Amino acid sequence: MPIFNDLNLNDWEKSEIWTDSLWIIHERDKTGKHNGFYHGNFIPQIPHQFILRYTKKNEIVFDPFIGSGTTAYEAENLNRNFIGIDIQKELVDYVKKNIEPKNNFSDLITGDSTKIETFKKAKEVLKNHKKKNVQLAILHPPYANIIKFSQLKGDLSNTKSLKEFLEKFSAVLKNTIEILEKDRYLVIVIGDKYTAGRWIPLGFYCLNEAQKLGLTLKSIIIKNMEGNRAKRNKESIWRYRALSSDYYIFKHEYILIFKNSPWNI
Ligand SMILES: C[S@@+](CC[C@H](N)C(=O)[O-])C[C@H]1O[C@@H](n2cnc3c(N)ncnc32)[C@H](O)[C@@H]1O
Repeated sequence: MPIFNDLNLNDWEKSEIWTDSLWIIHERDKTGKHNGFYHGNFIPQIPHQFILRYTKKNEIVFDPFIGSGTTAYEAENLNRNFIGIDIQKELVDYVKKNIEPKNNFSDLITGDSTKIETFKKAKEVLKNHKKKNVQLAILHPPYANIIKFSQLKGDLSNTKSLKEFLEKFSAVLKNTIEILEKDRYLVIVIGDKYTAGRWIPLGFYCLNEAQKLGLTLKSIIIKNMEGNRAKRNKESIWRYRALSSDYYIFKHEYILIFKNSPWNI
């Protein structure tokens, strides 16, 4: 029996947990506090699934790229504690205003997740709650520079090269692993990008960074992507462009699931 969740396996047929590696989701969950205003957010079903699958009630979910707070709201809905970081103060303040967990804590930090100093604050938060570790980490970084999230220097969407992006992402991973309980789970949500006529497999590169840090890969989920706002309603233009060239249109992204157990590559 898993010791990392509250699923009742005597009633497994009724479980709402998805166990396939292909996720086709046509509609985002817009209930509760999820309004989807933030360009570059992920759908609430993603943190919902992983919080249920990989944590028990009152454990701690961690997100070093809070954005509009999708993970924070799901943690609140599912009675989990939450610690999160984002480099943009306005976003952190906005999410803070909307969070009001009843019997749990939700602590949001403004800072750069690549920096050890920022994680010192996260460790301080843990200490204040008399905890040492988080039990689940969900990382949804910028997909390199596809969407510019801010003008801030430390923002991963302002990195100038793939090398710089991967170094910074690796720093976030390293900091996260330090506070993640041993044998618990870390999830990365990432898509690829296309630059100057070349497909850049960001998903595979990020997978590699996680493996270099000793995480054990448990699953790769392929999830459909229903066009971003710029692409929505322009399907035929993109199809024409693809047909008149030699590439395929992005319709998927990756969800990479790792266990924090040593694995030597
Ligand atoms: C893809 S979005 C996350 C969206 C989030 N999952 C949601 O549903 O709203 C990436 C976020 O990372 C933040 N970010 C970029 N670089 C960062 C850094 N170095 N440290 C902390 N946050 C950073 C951006 O401000 C942005 O909000």
